[in-house]
Formats: sequence, structure tokens, C-alpha cells
Amino acid sequence: MCGIVGYIGERKAVPILINGLLSLEYRGYDSAGIAVLNNNSSNENNYQLEIVKDKGRVNNLKNNDKIKDLIGNVGIAHTRWATHGIPSKENSHPHIDNTGKFAVVHNGIIENYTSLRRKLINNGYKLYSETDTEVIPNLINMYYSGDILKAVSDTMKELKGSYAIEVISEFCPDKIIIAKKDSPLVIGTSEKGNYIASDIPAILTYTNKFYFLDDEEISVVQKDSVEFYDINLSQIHKSIKTIELDSQSSEKNGYEDFMLKEIYEQPNAVRETIGSRLSLSEKTNLNIDYIDFKKFNRIFIVACGTAMHAGMAAKPIFEKFCKIPTEVDVASEFRYRNPLIDEHTFCIFISQSGETADTIAAVKLAKSFSATTLSIVNVIGSSITRFSDYTIYTHAGPEIAVASTKAYTCQVTLLGILAIYMAEFLGYDDKNLQSFKLALLKLPDKLKEVLDTSKTLKKYAKKIFNQHDLYFIGRGSDYAVCMEGSLKLKEISYIHSEAYASGELKHGPIALIEKDTTIIGVITDSLTSKKTISNLEEAISRGAKVLLITNQNIDNDKIDFTVSIPPIHTLLSPIISIVPLQFFAYYIAKFKNLDVDKPRNLAKSVTVE
Ligand code: F6R
Repeated sequence: MCGIVGYIGERKAVPILINGLLSLEYRGYDSAGIAVLNNNSSNENNYQLEIVKDKGRVNNLKNNDKIKDLIGNVGIAHTRWATHGIPSKENSHPHIDNTGKFAVVHNGIIENYTSLRRKLINNGYKLYSETDTEVIPNLINMYYSGDILKAVSDTMKELKGSYAIEVISEFCPDKIIIAKKDSPLVIGTSEKGNYIASDIPAILTYTNKFYFLDDEEISVVQKDSVEFYDINLSQIHKSIKTIELDSQSSEKNGYEDFMLKEIYEQPNAVRETIGSRLSLSEKTNLNIDYIDFKKFNRIFIVACGTAMHAGMAAKPIFEKFCKIPTEVDVASEFRYRNPLIDEHTFCIFISQSGETADTIAAVKLAKSFSATTLSIVNVIGSSITRFSDYTIYTHAGPEIAVASTKAYTCQVTLLGILAIYMAEFLGYDDKNLQSFKLALLKLPDKLKEVLDTSKTLKKYAKKIFNQHDLYFIGRGSDYAVCMEGSLKLKEISYIHSEAYASGELKHGPIALIEKDTTIIGVITDSLTSKKTISNLEEAISRGAKVLLITNQNIDNDKIDFTVSIPPIHTLLSPIISIVPLQFFAYYIAKFKNLDVDKPRNLAKSVTVE
């Protein structure tokens, strides 16, 4: 996790670095810091490394009085998600070496830092923080004999784990040296200087021309040039990519929080994701014409968190229309459990950020077994897209709030489109598929409707926001939605909650039900609705209060509160029924006065395993 920014050019570095950090706070916000090369003297070669850093958010750093003393045009900056060592000033980045000549910011984890610390201590170095990062500036110092590029490459050869680093030094005040392995880093280039960041939107205000650094590459960034080297310092050539993205869409546009804005953006995001890919009169178009779907006897959908829940929601779609057994797996499990995959396996990876470490590792594993890999990603040009055989993009737009909303609805939508594409390829284009297609095309309108009906939940949220435990139950696709609804609630309201397949309640969890325990039931499938109602009744008999989200006609006066949602094809219901649950979590967090967009302990991009 963690976000890093850098600037070298004719402008003052600090405002650019602060802006970049603010946009990268989704990657962590435990502490923030900046290092700048200042030249306060008349001697133009006399540069001094100045650092301001502290515990807390970027705004804390921005308001620090010492920031105004950082006047240089070369700087690096960091916003931290703590992995090694508590959030504190000492553990904040930038970190310096013992001589104070080299400053480093780092995103990633140095797995062999204990042995590197020992090596440095045996060589007379002292380490002052609890971080893994502090070994890096000290190793650079140890290997430095006049050539910073060589010192960085020698250091990289010692590091195990993941890193995106930026290095500045008084010894070479006209350069920022950057390097990466398994953590993202992009370079934006313009006539006014060169910009570095963990992601494109952080520097999109300044340029739309980017270089992408690959693993184990180093770059020397100067104010009017960018050079690239491999780890053995052979020079390599890279070409510039122009990125067409709208930096404005990262603003709140009058909404109180990014999460609320993103919930409301769902009809449009889903419409954009459908785009011209799907129509009733023509074959589905996904630009993946080279895949021969006839060769697959198994599908794996692999992802983490909310993206994995999108996979759970889509599994029955693939099984129904493509008739291929489909398994959904958590990426961190998949990567270590020797899954049975070969060239007849189709592996679908889902990731909003495209930077999730476990999902990237799962892609690499699947490729090593000759499976065909396709990723469903939101962030253009992100790492997963570069490792997968094929990528299709959701067009959700930037998702800033840590809790994922519109990315999820777009992921399930795109998985539905992919299933249609495959079913057409496999010759299963029957009237059931046509009616599914029609329902999918209606999603944006249905989403608009459900945004309105969901607002009624505010009253109910007010009544129960002080509770400590909540339970969600549903069957089939509704169970997948319950998992996601429960995760949303935990993440932003810090209320303990669990989701169960309705039929499982009586196999243990019902022991937890007591007077006034709230159970949220999701019912969108007429085939099983009576079953789940019975399960809810069993809970009501033991004192539970029930909140029901349904598109069925359920007449039961024992239910405390019902939110009626628009009817839709059962297999697409997760895209609609999640919306009230997003609002539910949102309202509860607001009543508890919590920071909805930046919940504690979380980060938007999970780039460590
Ligand atoms: C929850 C949430 C996370 C992410 C997970 C995977 O609201 O956002 O559970 O879904 O960390 O992230 P991506 O999709 O970026 O791979």
C-alpha cells in the first residue's frame, strides 16, 4: 500500500507533492512526509536535503508550519499505510541514511529486512525506526562511491519482496532515481518538468503523457529528460503513452462524501460499462476474438474482498449460460493451494485497482500452468493488465472512497456481458440468453429506481446504528449480496456483522439471536423466497427484528421494515439489491459520525500480501 509522488522541474515541488498525496490517500493515511532539495544560498550547487513528516493525514502535513521552508524544485513524498512499525513520526517516510545525504520513500514490503538490518548494523550503521524501509537509504549509502545509479542497482539486488522507491540526494540534486518491483510507479512528462506517482490520477492535472516502469527497472528522472535502465544498468528504451482520462471526475461534485457520490454514479457507470459492447440485434463485442472458449472445461474466478463477491454473484451466470463448471476463489488462497489448472482452464481475475498483490500473484501462477488469463479491471494501465493475457475494462470511473460501490456493480455487469459473449461463441444463443441480455440493457434504469427507494433506509439506520452485531441472510445470488452488504457495513461502520446462506442459520448461528437482534434478509428469487421467509420467521420467534430487501410480493406483518426494490432477472439481482445495503452501511456510518471515505486500518489499494 502507501502512495508516493515525486517532482523535478521548474515549478515549486511542494504544492505538486501535496496535491498528489491528497489524491493518493486512498492507499493509506497513517502518516505523510516530504523531502525536498533546497537551495537557500547564492552558490547554485549548494543543495540541502530538508524533510518534513508527521503522523496523521496529508492535511496535517499541509498545515505544518515547516512546510513553507521547503522551497526547492526537486522533491519526493509519501503517504503511509503502516506495515512494519506503528503509525508514528519516526516510522514516517521519507527515511534517510545515517549521513543524512540520501532520502527514500518506499511503497511495498522488504521481506528480508531483518537480515539486511543485521548486515547494516554489522557494518556500523544505526537504524532508528521500526520500518523495513530504513534499510534502503542505508544500503544506498553503503554502496555509494560516486555513482548513485550503481548504488541503487546494487541495493535492488539485495532486496527481496516488493518495492516502488524514489531516491534523492544532495550528491545529485538534478536527479530523482526511481525503481520498482511488484509495486506500481508511473512517470508523467511535460515541458514544465517530470512527475512521478503511484498512479496516473495523482498527476493527471499536469500531463496526460506517461511512461510505465516495469519490474526491476530503474529510471533517472531529470527536469527535461527521463532515462531507463534494467537492474544491471543496461539502458532500455520506452515509449510515451497518452492517457485520456478526466481528472475532474475525481472531485466530489457537491456530494458530502466520495462514497455517496459513487453510489449515485452507479446508473451511469453501469451504462458506460455496457457501452457498445451489448446489443439485442448483434453479437456481443469484447475485443477478445482470439480466445477459443471451446477448449475450456473449467472456469476460475479469482479476486479479493468486494471483487471476489462480484465473482460469487457471477458464478451462476457462467454456469447457466456457458455450462462450464465455475469456481470462485480468494486470490490469497488460490496462489498458495496448488489449484488444479491447465491449458483447459479459463481464469478470470477481478480487480478495481489492478494493483492488488495477491491477485497479481494469482495471475502469474495461472499463467505458469498455461491457463488462459483474463482480467476485469477498472484502472487503465494498472499492473494486472500488464500481466494478464487479456483485459477488459469496467468503465466505472475513478473510485476514491475506500469502500467499493460502483466498481462492484460494474464488475458484475461486465462479468454478465462476458458470460453472454462466451455463450454466443459456444452456440448457446437461445431465448433465455436473449431475455438475460434484455434485462442487462435495462440495468441503468433499474439502478436509478433503486437509488430512490433505498433512501427510505435512513430512518431504519437511525433506529439501529448503536447495535453491536447484525446478521445478513439470503440464498443463491442473494447470499453473494449478503456477503458484500455485510463487508460494507463492517468496513465503514465498524459494526460486527456476518452473512449466512439462509439455510445455514439453524445449523449454529441461530444460537446468537436474542431479543432485538437485527437480521437483514435479501429475497429476490421467487423459487426460494418462501424458504428464506421461513428462516426469518425462525429468527423472529427468537426475538429478532427483520429488515427485508426484496422485489417479491411478501405480505408478512412480522417484518419490521421492508425496502421494495425493482424486479429484475434473478441472476442480475445482485447489481440492484446491493444498492440499499450500500446506503444502509453509509447511513449507519454517518449516524456514528465516522469518516465514511477513509475508514480506519484500511487502504484502497492492497499492494502487500
Ligand atoms: C471493499 C474493498 C476491498 C477490495 C479488495 C480488492 O470495499 O474495496 O475489499 O475489493 O481490496 O481490491 P481490488 O478490486 O482493487 O483488487
